[in-house]
Amino acid sequence: ASIEKGNYRHYMQKEIFEQPTVVAQTLSSYIRPLEQTVALPQMDFDLAGVKRITIVACGTSYYAGMVAKYWFETFARVPVDIDVASEFRYRDPVLEEGGLALFISQSGETADTLAALRHCKEHGQTIAVVVNVPTSSMAREADLLLPTHAGPEIGVASTKAFTCQLAVLAALAAHLALVKGKLSAEQEREIVRHLIEAPAALNAALAHDEDIAAMAHLIAPARDVLYLGRGPDYPLAMEGALKLKEISYIHAEGYASGEMKHGPIALIDEAVPVIVLAPSGPLFEKTVSNMQEVRARGGKVVLISDAEGIEEAGEGCLATIEMPSVHPLIAPLVYAVPVQLLAYHVACAKGTDVDQPRNLAKSVTVE
Ligand code: G6P
Repeated sequence: ASIEKGNYRHYMQKEIFEQPTVVAQTLSSYIRPLEQTVALPQMDFDLAGVKRITIVACGTSYYAGMVAKYWFETFARVPVDIDVASEFRYRDPVLEEGGLALFISQSGETADTLAALRHCKEHGQTIAVVVNVPTSSMAREADLLLPTHAGPEIGVASTKAFTCQLAVLAALAAHLALVKGKLSAEQEREIVRHLIEAPAALNAALAHDEDIAAMAHLIAPARDVLYLGRGPDYPLAMEGALKLKEISYIHAEGYASGEMKHGPIALIDEAVPVIVLAPSGPLFEKTVSNMQEVRARGGKVVLISDAEGIEEAGEGCLATIEMPSVHPLIAPLVYAVPVQLLAYHVACAKGTDVDQPRNLAKSVTVE
């Protein structure tokens, strides 16, 4: 069946708006809402015995992996090594017996990721894959297949595949924590309750589409943009920067808020918008103090936070984008939306080819 754009101008826009539906669809295969438990597919290896996880991916899928590293370590206390596939495959990584290697890919065909998968297989790792194309090479070669149900993604810049990857990875982290004895049944129910709230929270984030479109002209003229975040929202900052580069052709960097003082702060002036991802929560104050360092140097800040955060720290910002108040676990899914929409509307303002950006391919099947 051909895939239509419907009422949308671009596939990317359509795919951004599909997220509440496809994330719910994906979650429905990984949780049992009535029992409030996670439900992973049958595994014919000893997950509880896994001592280390190696995550390998490229592009947006790599940033999903970075978020998952925080989750696997926080919930399951399993150490995680993560790398981009093009580095991993040539650096002779240390792969111990009994390790689990996890590959994340929308297409399941990215050449570097596939080569890394085969390398891990040869070195005795159990292979788990999170892929969106169930007939792909990676899906076929996996010991454990964890499909995302995002449906076909046409826009070159990945959007809905990313949030669906996060949904699967959150469920996997909870499952791993359970088998490792790090999670009580009550904590499991709590995690499942937060995950169930994700689709509605994504909808609430999408409701800011028009505000974001209206502020795109503030970012469109910039040559450079800095994205800041902390903890699991640090990978989101990098994803935000990647999206701006991919479709808006603006040089952007995603930085860990606390690392800004070791370099990028030298770039701050009125011409470099700084987008701060700061959901209220344990790291909020820290991120806000980094934001004040930017402001003190004349930097123009766009603050993306929830009502509480914006009330506390929004004054004097160039703009604010208000997200629903969500549990920190699902914040990376929810904050993906404004990051995607901002890049999308900036690209539209600049008139670039949103669905087919120059020099990029949807699936990179050559090295
Ligand atoms: C290309 C695409 C990106 C994608 C990356 C990894 O660069 O343009 O959107 O994130 O490949 O692709 P994969 O299919 O492995 O997730």
